[in-house]
Amino acid sequence: MKYFIDTANVNEIRKANELGILSGVTTNPSLIAKEGRIFADVIKEITDIVDGPISAEVLSLESDGMIAEALELVKIHKNIVVKVPMTAEGLKAVSYLSKKGIRTNVTLIFTATQALAAARAGASYVSPFVGRLDDIGLDGVEVIEEIVHIFNLYGIDTEIIAASIRNKNHVQRVALAGAHIATIPYKVILESLTHPLTNAGIERFLKDWEDANQK
Ligand code: E4P
Repeated sequence: MKYFIDTANVNEIRKANELGILSGVTTNPSLIAKEGRIFADVIKEITDIVDGPISAEVLSLESDGMIAEALELVKIHKNIVVKVPMTAEGLKAVSYLSKKGIRTNVTLIFTATQALAAARAGASYVSPFVGRLDDIGLDGVEVIEEIVHIFNLYGIDTEIIAASIRNKNHVQRVALAGAHIATIPYKVILESLTHPLTNAGIERFLKDWEDANQK
């Protein structure tokens, strides 16, 4: 499983990139709005930091509008992946864009059936939202397992981005489920690197070292 970061904050992206584990970035309109900056400027800056797929989302609800936005977005950088919502209009846009060789990420996926349709329309990536399914009492990881199973069954090469990742348990479970990618907020990336026994182990090594050198 590859790591993407789910943020539009360039400082977080820079810091995560320094860890050497980052393969791409996903943004969404809420994340961009939080930054209070011009959309295209943020996306351009991100492409300068990370050399990998950078998802930038369209805002139109009609396929024509989505396509027009997509054609502008891909002018920013060759690594731009156009993020499109999982609707009938969205799939029309995905079908058109994929025929033009433009990569898409179909977002707001909550069932394996939605993922299958998006893949068949030509999506390069699908983004099932794990945390938001957990929020309504369902098991988001189970949906990842179902999508992995269906894609394997039919030899579908669309990549599965496990999204809406809220904790390190999600990171481990979606990796075990076979997600190709997890897109993770910066604080969860950091959390996933830790274990209380790692910290305790470091303290113990340092203490033993100091004790031995004091004698
Ligand atoms: C996906 O690409 C979305 O940006 C994101 O993962 C949504 O996560 P949230 O449910 O924590 O907002």
